[in-house]
Amino acid sequence: MVKSPLIVGNWKMHKTSREAQNFCETIAPQIAQSQATVYLAVPFTLLPTLETSIILGAQNMHDEPKGAFTGEISAHMLKDAGAQFVLLGHSERRHVFGETDRFINRKVKRALAEGIEPILCIGETLEQRESGHTHEVLKDQLLSSLEGIDDYSKILIAYEPVWAIGTGKVAHVDDAQSAHAFIRGLVGDRPILYGGSVKPDNAQNLLQQPDIDGLLVGGASLEVESFSQIINGKNP
Ligand code: PGA
Repeated sequence: MVKSPLIVGNWKMHKTSREAQNFCETIAPQIAQSQATVYLAVPFTLLPTLETSIILGAQNMHDEPKGAFTGEISAHMLKDAGAQFVLLGHSERRHVFGETDRFINRKVKRALAEGIEPILCIGETLEQRESGHTHEVLKDQLLSSLEGIDDYSKILIAYEPVWAIGTGKVAHVDDAQSAHAFIRGLVGDRPILYGGSVKPDNAQNLLQQPDIDGLLVGGASLEVESFSQIINGKNP
């Protein structure tokens, strides 16, 4: 591995506390020898229970500090439960739950106010890519979600083309690099992660691109074997 990347596992709606604890214990030696910084975005229920040195975060939160929002969770509660970061604007939140850039913008501000590191996820659909609108969409999502924020120094970005998430279709490395270079022009030296069907056999190639600083890994973060291959730069 040429640089020291940030690898973020996104467990989505998977794992009970026993399964999660087993995972963390089994993978601990692999993490200890990894040059990567490893984060895990886990279900809320696991945040206060997991005993691990892995940096834990959440996959979503509400923007209001408290109130009558049945079923929601606040940044303050996440912090209290041990979250150090939060994924915001993941494409499943945007597309399945209808989250808008305005809502995501308020969440980013709330996370920053609470001292939780936001990982802002952006990405185009296949239709937007094929119609030649990728850059326009990325710029729009990025600038709308960061509106009113002058200091980007506490924000991480994840570029996840929607058509590559959970589909097995990873973006071509040149396309991924080109999107990252475009985002770099907007956010400067902030870490930009690539996500979407990252697996042990494509992770290293992606990480070798100059503007890909890390990876956001869904399915392959659920198994110790595949996740440890990714964090240790092993290409099976
Ligand atoms: P995937 O998910 O690696 O399973 O495509 C990535 C993500 O949704 O963050």
